[in-house]
Amino acid sequence: MADLWQDAMDHAVAIARKAGAVIRDHLQGEMTVMCKSSPADLVTATDQKVEELIMASIMEKFPTHSLIGEESVSAGQPCILTDNPTWIIDPLDGTTNFIHRFPFVAVSIGFAVNKELEFGVVYSCIEDKMYTGKRGKGAFCNGKQLQVSGQTDIKQSLIITELGSSRDAEVVRHIFSSMQKILCIPVHGIRCAGSAAINMCLVAAGAAEAYYEIGIHCWDISAGAVIVSEAGGVLMDVEGGPLDLMSRRVVAANSKSVAERIVKEIEAFPAERDDVSEAGSA
Ligand code: IPD
Repeated sequence: MADLWQDAMDHAVAIARKAGAVIRDHLQGEMTVMCKSSPADLVTATDQKVEELIMASIMEKFPTHSLIGEESVSAGQPCILTDNPTWIIDPLDGTTNFIHRFPFVAVSIGFAVNKELEFGVVYSCIEDKMYTGKRGKGAFCNGKQLQVSGQTDIKQSLIITELGSSRDAEVVRHIFSSMQKILCIPVHGIRCAGSAAINMCLVAAGAAEAYYEIGIHCWDISAGAVIVSEAGGVLMDVEGGPLDLMSRRVVAANSKSVAERIVKEIEAFPAERDDVSEAGSA
């Protein structure tokens, strides 16, 4: 049982590297940019091409497995996590960064069985950093083991969040209000890298104490969740309690105490679940 799912993880690493090379190539030329749920929720032809490449490769090698991919769900595919081995894919996390050539863009591949995450692969392809985490086996970046920061004093912490892609005034008000409260704890600072997957890897690597966001999707955080917990970190819902992958809410931190302190200041706001169509039909 020791190497259960190792062949799948090796495949995820290989395909993430290949996908990352395609993304790097497409950074140079003309980009076709389209809007999804808001004028700031963007997708490019590269996101779609890379997702097709990743999915075709997984289907060829693991034809019985299930797939959840950002662009397929946008195109109307269901977003349902069953007990079947399931690959949860963000082909290009940090699409806005990609469009602006802001250099934090990742391929994110999580893998769950019986609804439990088994491994995660995040390839930060411009930095050429391959982050991996496997349940019970630790987390690594380019082969070097990762460990979260040991800083548990919130006042000496660096926190990561994002402004999200909603431009609804009420949502933006909640986001800024949470940031203001956290900043004034006070903390050392707040950062936004523009990729949820990379944000989580930064927590795993000890470069920040916590990351939180409302509005992300399961494909943004599945891989990062394994990497954070295997680096010794904790995952939580923004109102405390366990992380629910489909809830579109996450806190990832180096410790329970930092996570719980952040949770006290976050103003939660409604975000439609990723599996809403399943929940609706239940
Ligand atoms: C987005 C990024 C961003 C986060 C958004 C995500 P995408 O993913 O992770 O940092 O703030 O919530 O949707 O659209 O670039 O794959």
